[in-house]
Amino acid sequence: MEITNKSSLEDLIKTETHPFARHRRLRLTETLRSMVRETELSKNDFIYPLFVCPGIKVKKEVSSMPGVYQMSVDEIVQECAEVKSLGVPAVILFGIPEHKDEIGSEAYDELGIVQRAVHAIKKEVPELFVITDVCLCEYTSHGHCGIVRGNEIVNDESIELLAKAALTHVQAGADMVAPSDMFDGRVKAIRQILDENGFYNTPIMSYAAKYASGFYGPFREAAESTPKFGDRRSHQMDPANSDEALREVQTDIEEGADIVMVKPALPYLDIIRRVKDTFNMPTAAYNVSGEYSMVKAAGKLGWIDEQRVMMEMLTGIKRAGADLILTYFAKEAVRLLR
Ligand code: PBG
Repeated sequence: MEITNKSSLEDLIKTETHPFARHRRLRLTETLRSMVRETELSKNDFIYPLFVCPGIKVKKEVSSMPGVYQMSVDEIVQECAEVKSLGVPAVILFGIPEHKDEIGSEAYDELGIVQRAVHAIKKEVPELFVITDVCLCEYTSHGHCGIVRGNEIVNDESIELLAKAALTHVQAGADMVAPSDMFDGRVKAIRQILDENGFYNTPIMSYAAKYASGFYGPFREAAESTPKFGDRRSHQMDPANSDEALREVQTDIEEGADIVMVKPALPYLDIIRRVKDTFNMPTAAYNVSGEYSMVKAAGKLGWIDEQRVMMEMLTGIKRAGADLILTYFAKEAVRLLR
C-alpha cells in the first residue's frame, strides 16, 4: 500500500493495530438486519395506474402486461374498492375514449371517460386518492400529445387544451392532476385555470423529467396511444441528459408543481437522486410499463424470482430518493408487505 498522506498513514496504523472491520456482524440475523435497514417500503409509497375504457363489464387483459386490464367504469369502481382495502392509498387514471379526433376532444369533455370514472370512484370509494393523468395522446387520432400542424407538435395551443382537461378532471372530483405531456408552460397553465376556478387547494404532480423511452411500449398497447407517425422526441427528454432534467424540474417547481416526477425509474435512478438532493421536493418515480413487463416475462419463463426482483426494484427506486412510486406492482407489493 502506498502511503500518500497523513490520514492514510493513520488508517494503516489503525488497521494494523486493530482487528479489521467485520461488516458481516450486522448481517447475521434477520432481526438485526431489519434494525439497521436504511430503506423500508411502505404501502403509502405506492400509486396504482388504471386504464378505463367505454362499455360495461369490460375487463380486458393487456397482452404485454399480465395482470393489467382495460376496465369499464363499473369494473374500475370495484377494482378501486379492492385497491383501497389492500391499503394502496392512490390510483392514477388513464382513459381510452370512445372516439379519437385530431384535437383530442374527449380529453376535455365533461362527460369524457376519465371524468365519468373519477366521478364514480369518488362516489363509491371516497377515501381513495384519485389522480388523473393529463395528456392528449390517448385521445388524438394521430396519437400525439398535443395538436399537430404540418410536422410540428404545437406547444402553446396544446397547453390550453391540457389545462381544460385538468379542470374537467378536478370538477369531476379528482384529488390531484398529473400532466404527462412535457410541453413547456403546462404546469403554469394548469395552476392558473385551477386557481381561477377556485381549486387552489388541488395539487399538481408534474411529470417533470420524462424521457423519450422505449420502456413505454406496453403502455401504448394498454392506452392505445402509439403515435401514428413520428415520435415524441420533440418534447420528451433525451435519455443521455441529466443537467437538463434539473432545468426541467426547476421550471415545473417555479410554475407551481407540488410533486415532481422522474420517468421511467430504473434506468434513471441517478436522475431521481439528483432531483431529490437538489430540490428537496416530494419526488415521485414512475416504474413504467416496460419495466413491469420485463419482470413478468422473465418470471414466466422461470428465469428470475419475480417477487424478489419486484421488491428489489421498488426498494432501489425508493433508496435512490423517490418518496412515491407509480407502479403496476402496487397491489402485489402491498400484499407482500402485509
Ligand atoms: C402519456 C403517458 C405515457 C405514460 C404515462 N403517460 C406514455 C407516453 O409518453 O407515450 C407511460 C407509462 C408507462 O409506460 O407505464 N400520456
